[in-house]
Amino acid sequence: MEILTLPTAEAACVRAAEIVAQAVVVRPEAALGLPTGRTPVPIYAELVRRRRAGGLRLGAVRAFGLDELWGVPASAPASFRRELDGAFYRHVDIVAANIYALDGAAADATAEAAAYEAALGRAGGLDLALLGIGGNGHIAFNEPGSPFASRTRLVALAAETREAQRAAFGTAPVPTHALTIGIANILEARRVVLVATGAAKAEIVARALEGTVTEALPASVLRQHAAATFVLDEAAASRLTAPRR
Ligand code: PGA
Repeated sequence: MEILTLPTAEAACVRAAEIVAQAVVVRPEAALGLPTGRTPVPIYAELVRRRRAGGLRLGAVRAFGLDELWGVPASAPASFRRELDGAFYRHVDIVAANIYALDGAAADATAEAAAYEAALGRAGGLDLALLGIGGNGHIAFNEPGSPFASRTRLVALAAETREAQRAAFGTAPVPTHALTIGIANILEARRVVLVATGAAKAEIVARALEGTVTEALPASVLRQHAAATFVLDEAAASRLTAPRR
């Protein structure tokens, strides 16, 4: 378990982007697990900058979106697939055929999860899973109580997670469920990089890193991963008993 603390959110995200870029240099066809949300926005911006600067080639990368709201088609403004398109895929040389997403509008959630698992299997599993952390400790949409052995599946969203999504839905109802990669899939990734920025994440980061490893706090399981890195800004690291630099 490695903990990197950077002075600012921007610096933390540049560092995370550097780790992703390095993984692609080492293995140009790397399979990357990619999150959405507020936290990774500057990471994608930095990767796009590196691509435009000419140093980063993503033409052989396999990109796996980690989760999707159930009932939300890829064309909808709130879709995570669309978010990744807008923030990242559209601006780089990732090949469309190498982009994998869970379809929130699939007819059958079980079949959709199985198809994603099959694609992951063909890619040989994830080389790197990039993660955020929810205020309740979720990773992807593995909410508190998710079994560590869980694989890709349809899950019910926690009340606080739905609340965090509310802004994207305006007056429309927020989805109650989502498709998500499982905790076992994340643990099978050869490298895991969790990024947390801002004071609002400080308490959950401290519990994940210094409390009990428990299914009640999904991110805590990453302490059992042989190659997990937490990339934090000072605000997110501020509740650690021994803040690292
Ligand atoms: P955020 O979401 O990056 O928008 O804070 C993180 C998460 O819920 O995993």
